Amino acid sequence: MPNQMYKRHDRSDIFIHWFNAACWILLLLTGVGLIQHSAIDPFGSGYPEALRAMVGGGGNLLTIHEGIGLLWILGFVFYLIVNFKGAKFFLSEVFPVSPERDVPWLFKKMALMTIGPKVLKDPTLPDQGYYNMGQKVFAQASVVGGIVIAVTGIIMWLSDRSLGAEAVGIVSWSIFLHFIGVGLVFAGLLVHIYMAAISPEERPGFMSMFTGVVPGDYAKHHHRLWWEKIKTENK
Ligand code: HEM
Repeated sequence: MPNQMYKRHDRSDIFIHWFNAACWILLLLTGVGLIQHSAIDPFGSGYPEALRAMVGGGGNLLTIHEGIGLLWILGFVFYLIVNFKGAKFFLSEVFPVSPERDVPWLFKKMALMTIGPKVLKDPTLPDQGYYNMGQKVFAQASVVGGIVIAVTGIIMWLSDRSLGAEAVGIVSWSIFLHFIGVGLVFAGLLVHIYMAAISPEERPGFMSMFTGVVPGDYAKHHHRLWWEKIKTENK
């Protein structure tokens, strides 16, 4: 029997994912260039100096970073207008956690990927729904982190324009939380990129971020509860 394809992502979901990824890369590249402090410079002073020289100074680099940040926020507003239902579905799949299925899945998966199956009494992973628990953890971090980054970014942007001296406290907290938010999402992003784009067993999931569909055997093996649900719905 041919391997039936199942729809996983809408066109607007695919657009917002890659738009978000492109904005993240550009925001990271420009944001790191804005840090010019010998004690915390992640790549040494050469990178911020070169980037600032390329765009005509630190002021221009900040304007570019802010411009991309505002575009990023507007992209999400546009997505929410176009596909509010999709955003609601995403949040409803990502935030609920089953202590019986999802928590053991996460610990078993980490054990399988590091020490191997021998240490586990039963190495079988509990069935997962639309997202597995690893994807949920990253998605939760990117939603919460993304909101923190956007809100604190807007406060910092306003601080240069309309906020006065009385806002020093809130602006200082915004700077701190902006860094924490980026650090949290970036840590997860390294694992996300490995799992989603490099790990061979997830290749059909990667392709679905372009085509929107996954083969039935992949859906059955990786997202069995979702596969069972759509099979029943299709009947
Ligand atoms: C450029 C590097 C990236 C690649 C190759 C990549 C790849 C993917 C793929 C293939 C999926 C689909 C998984 C599935 O439905 O089975 C996915 C989903 C997702 N991506 Fe990315 N992504 C990248 C960057 C990002 C960034 C920068 C973020 C956010 C900060 C992000 C957030 C998400 C979220 C929240 C999901 C849904 C949950 C999940 O599958 O983890 N991605 N990504």
